[in-house]
Amino acid sequence: MSAVADKALVTRKDGAQEVTSVKNHVLLLDGRVMKSFVAGRRSKNRFRRELEALRRLQGLEGVPELLRASHSPMCVHMSRIEGITLDRAGSVPGAVFHSLRELVERMLDHRVARHSLPARDVLVRPDGSAGLVDFERSRSCHFSWSPIWLASRAVTRFQLLRLIEAHAPHLLSQRESATLGMQHWLRAVYRLHLNLRKRYKRRLKSIN
Ligand SMILES: Nc1ncnc2c1ncn2[C@@H]1O[C@H](COP(=O)(O)OP(=O)(O)O)[C@@H](O)[C@H]1O
Ligand SMILES: [Mg+2]
Repeated sequence: MSAVADKALVTRKDGAQEVTSVKNHVLLLDGRVMKSFVAGRRSKNRFRRELEALRRLQGLEGVPELLRASHSPMCVHMSRIEGITLDRAGSVPGAVFHSLRELVERMLDHRVARHSLPARDVLVRPDGSAGLVDFERSRSCHFSWSPIWLASRAVTRFQLLRLIEAHAPHLLSQRESATLGMQHWLRAVYRLHLNLRKRYKRRLKSIN
């Protein structure tokens, strides 16, 4: 069963799989994964975030175990989570989303938040539980009362609800659907505000 979604995936002669993007090179081997960060804009930051999150989440079932890391070149070795990514899994039992909700809450208990939660980073494991990979855009926080942490936690829960809405909307409670609706609306207003501001600035420039 392949664990990888749409990014450039190559199956090598030796059976290993590679996912290559401009930012990373991910080598999926039997039982372990090597993620190399291509040096470039913000790569150190992404590497640091991935490492810190994996360290904090050590022992959490469903998250890769950190095996080792090298700083030059930047590479993280971790255990491989078996299963198929959610975007390729087709229709999955509701229990998978229940497990994912639990996993996300445990992750937040460890003070790790995620700014994105794409389906290709969620694994449906052979036992029907959920796994999570790719922590390079995560935020780890020390103080539970920090406003940045509180905002990051809210964003994580929003991303989780969006993912469930896309794959199994019937599993959302009425309250969650209402929350999502409100947040979608706020995002639309914010985008409109950004667009109008851009246009206004362009106009000012063309006048001057
Ligand atoms: N530890 C892992 N176990 C299983 N699959 C993984 C693991 N790490 C990465 N993958 C797979 O490889 C893909 C690319 O890795 P990822 O860390 O998400 O890199 P990128 O930041 O380029 O998206 C993931 O979407 C996932 O499908
Ligand atoms: Mg990813």
